[in-house]
Amino acid sequence: MIVRAEVAVAQLHSVRPSVLVTKRIFPEAIELLERYCEVDYEATDDGLPAEQLLRRARGKQAIVSQLTDKFTADVINQLQGIRVIANVAVGYDNVDLDAATRAGILVTNTPDVLTDTTADLAFGLLLAAARRIVEGHQFVHSGQWKNWAIDLLAGYDVHHKTLGIVGFGRIGRAVARRALGFSMQILYYDLERAPAEVEQELDARYVSLEELLRNSDFVSIHVPLNSNTRHLIGARELGLMKPTAILINTARGPVIDEEALVRALREGIIAGAGLDVFENEPRVHPGLLELRQVVLTPHIGSASIETRRKMCLMAVENALAALRGERPPNLVNPEAWKGN
Ligand code: DGY
Repeated sequence: MIVRAEVAVAQLHSVRPSVLVTKRIFPEAIELLERYCEVDYEATDDGLPAEQLLRRARGKQAIVSQLTDKFTADVINQLQGIRVIANVAVGYDNVDLDAATRAGILVTNTPDVLTDTTADLAFGLLLAAARRIVEGHQFVHSGQWKNWAIDLLAGYDVHHKTLGIVGFGRIGRAVARRALGFSMQILYYDLERAPAEVEQELDARYVSLEELLRNSDFVSIHVPLNSNTRHLIGARELGLMKPTAILINTARGPVIDEEALVRALREGIIAGAGLDVFENEPRVHPGLLELRQVVLTPHIGSASIETRRKMCLMAVENALAALRGERPPNLVNPEAWKGN
């Protein structure tokens, strides 16, 4: 891939293309870009407010972006000469895809490389919330551990319980694979039923969302954020869940109505939650911070060093492909592709 990029970019561009990288990424990815392009690198974690992003994007042909960059229709309509927005994430809800397509801008993401890493974190949150691992850690650290007691920090079993997976794509299925090792029963809900061989391999049963919520001990969210999934889990859905159930979210915060979740947790409508994503990141609903039965992590689903490095390189390779006039491997708006 990289060798192909080397040859093709050298051949096709006597003038090196210009790329804006909106915030810090792994250095290997910057080195790769710099071999072929002029790079305007915002090497900070703060990134660029919209007006600065627009100013710095002038004269560029590609943008390597992250999920904190908001490409609204208004921003996209002001971009000129940009051929590709290469997002370093599998999710691309930060980009108004229709607006990008209308503007003829290719949008790419970084699927697959983060599937297992994200599934690991989802399962970690599930275990941590069920077995009260974070509470235990705090208990030991704060010197409260004076005695052993029969029900000290007793939580819920995970093994042999029922896991409901909402969204049975790559990450949802990877979570199911982990659950098999814990002898869990797997229910899943998605818009489309998975192929029979996948259901068989994962011993997973396709049910309605309502049936899943009623019967699961753990519910793990793995849908992308879009207009159909925003607040997919609200007060009504939480009310269907078991009072002993634990809700896990490593997808996108707005899939769950956070206000309703706080109420459900406070009132014991469900037992706990493990959350890696939030409605208004990095702001976390103050109600969630007060609840001991909630485990919170700062959107680190794909954050292993290996995976984040791969994601950065993948985004850069997508950008390079678009710059040399090829269809990028991870194009999410094929309608914008006009061929070579
Ligand atoms: C993604 O890739 O969409 C994650 O949320 C960030 O890694």
